[in-house]
Parts: sequence; structure tokens; C-alpha cells
Amino acid sequence: MYTIIEKIDTININKEKIKQASNILKSGGLVAFPTETVYGLGADALNAEAAKKIYSAKGRPSDNPLIVHIAKESSLDLIAEDISEKSRKIIKRFWPGPLTMIFNKKEIVPYSTTGGLDTVAVRMPDNPIALALIEESGLCIAAPSANTSGKPSPTISGHVIDDLDGRIDMIIDGGNVGIGIESTILDMTCDPPMILRPGFITKEMLEDTIGKVDVDKTTISLKQDFKPKAPGMKYRHYAPDAELILISGKLDSVIEKINILAIENEKKGKKVGIIATEESIGQYSHGKVISLGNRNNPSSLAYNLYNVLREFNKTDVQIIYCESFPDDNLGQAIVNRLKKASSNKIIQI
Ligand code: TXA
Ligand code: MG
Repeated sequence: MYTIIEKIDTININKEKIKQASNILKSGGLVAFPTETVYGLGADALNAEAAKKIYSAKGRPSDNPLIVHIAKESSLDLIAEDISEKSRKIIKRFWPGPLTMIFNKKEIVPYSTTGGLDTVAVRMPDNPIALALIEESGLCIAAPSANTSGKPSPTISGHVIDDLDGRIDMIIDGGNVGIGIESTILDMTCDPPMILRPGFITKEMLEDTIGKVDVDKTTISLKQDFKPKAPGMKYRHYAPDAELILISGKLDSVIEKINILAIENEKKGKKVGIIATEESIGQYSHGKVISLGNRNNPSSLAYNLYNVLREFNKTDVQIIYCESFPDDNLGQAIVNRLKKASSNKIIQI
């Protein structure tokens, strides 16, 4: 399949190109587009056949439901039932924005979009290109992250091209995303609502709006434990090609341990990578060291995370050691993604 690649400027949006993308979606095709979190791979959410194409393009397990993207609140009433007062409050404060909510679905939403579930995940993205595309098409757009299943999510169009060129109809290059990790997922079918995937919108921010919010503990704990409630969270995810091991503990001890491990592995002839931070990068003497950002600026860590994991795929590194981070606020999301990227390989010191 030939993939059309078009650049669209976020500030000065080219209407003709949006129309072209929207026509592809309306005829059941696949278009990758930027959102404020990561790039999404869009299809008509209410067209069962179109939604199915997403799974084959990504190599995604068919029981992993998609998030439906909308541009106005009235679209929510078309696809979801039992929308509570709490949900309305959250919408008022956080939409458009990096927050997905789970509701009971209406019949109109096909099971191929919801992975066979009777619930549907919905969000309103805060990106002018995404909103223009949804509005122009008049559709609700199902869009998972636009990566091959299991790989790190794409934060620039180049990542989408690497994974999906030749497998989908169109890629919109809308520059860098703003946040760099996927939306927070909040299940509104239970009370108190429960965070199924941590993200930029934190528990504290949500509790400030609606009171008590629970967290699916499997998403943040560094221990191997139970089955997560969001089907997608059980799969190996965000993984670089090399083995990734998370080193958790006091920073000084972590640096010391990583240096020892790097030397040991190099002696065995293994190529070592290290994910460090601006604060620690000068303290590593072995391996290929890349900084994730500044510990005092967790947004920078989130923003660079997937790009750094993909950078290592361009090298011949075989084993990557990564510093861990405090799992408070945005740190919850960062630790959650690192934990998954490492398939729970964690050395606690
Ligand atoms: O920021 C984002 O959310 C990005 C952009 C493109 O919007 N999308 C995204 O989609 O991350 P995806 O497919 O990579 O992740 C969707 C997650 C999966 O873990 C899936 O299992 C969960 O949402 N999910 C979707 N519908 C669900 C439902 N009805 N119940 C529980 N979990 C659901
Ligand atoms: Mg994904």
C-alpha cells in the first residue's frame, strides 16, 4: 500500500489536506495524526470494518480496545451511556486534554472498536490538527497510538513512518507532540472512579475536581502482581529492541550499581546502554549514555521517554540500564511506562 505523507502546520492548518485525510477516514481508511500526547492511528470508530484494519496495521491483539476521539461533548452522548455528574465536571475541567474516560457503551459502537467490551473509552484531544480532522469528518475517530504493537509510542511523525509506512493510507506530519506519553485513563463505570493508566492528568488533579479517586495498583507498583483492568496494560509495551532493566533505589546507589553492571557486561563483550538524567550523566564512564531530562522537571522526562527508547534501537546496544524515579504525580506515569518497557525487570537496591 502507498502511504501519503503530508505536513500540516498546527498554527496555519491547510484545509485541503484535512479534507483529504477526512475523506480517507470517511471511506473506511486509516490516517495517522498528531495529538497532544502521542501520534494516533485513526479510523471511523462506528465502522466495524474500518476499526478492524487498525488491529492488522499495528499487529494489535483483537481484545485490546481502542480509544474513541471526539471534538464536542454532544458526540459523547451519541456513543456512551450513564454519564454521571462527576464525569461532566471532569469534562468541564480537563477536555480537550490528555484524559480518557471509560463509560458504558451505546449499541452504535461496534465490538471491534471496544475489543468485545460493553464499555467504551473516550477522549477529546487538545491538538488543533486532531480536532480539525474530527470536525471536518463529522466522525468519532478510534485511535490507538500509531506504533507497531509493543513498540514505544510515536512522538514525532518519523516514528510513525518507521513503523507504519506502507501499511496505512496517510500520515499527517504535525510536528512534535506536547506531552510525549499517553493520556490518563479513568474508569467512570465504578465509584469512586479508578485510574487504569496513569498519565499527565494525575490522581491529585482529579481528586481536586471530584473527590476520591482510586488507582489500579497494578499500573504503578514495581512488584509483579495482578491482572490490570485496562486490557492493553497486560501486554509487553513500549519496549526497545534491547533488554531493558530498571534500577530502583537511592540515586547514588543506583549510579554505583549501574556503573558496576556496565563494566561487568562490557567485560563479557556486551554493548551497554544507560538511561541517565542531567543530574547523573557525568557520573557514568562506560556504555552509551543518554539523558532522559531533568529530575526537577518530570515533564521533560515524560516528553523524552519514547524518543530515547527509540534512539537505542538505532544503536547496537544489547542491554540498557535505566535509573528509576519517584512514583508521585507525573512520576507515576513515567515509572508505569518504564516498568512495562522493561517487562518488569527491576533491580531493587
Ligand atoms: O493519549 C492517548 O490515549 C493515545 C492518543 C493517540 O490518543 N492513545 C492511546 O491508545 O494510547 P492505545 O490504544 O495505545 O491505548 C489505549 C488503552 C489500552 O491500554 C486499552 O486497553 C485501554 O486504553 N482501553 C481502551 N478501551 C478500554 C475500555 N473500554 N476499558 C478498559 N480499558 C480500555
Ligand atoms: Mg499504545
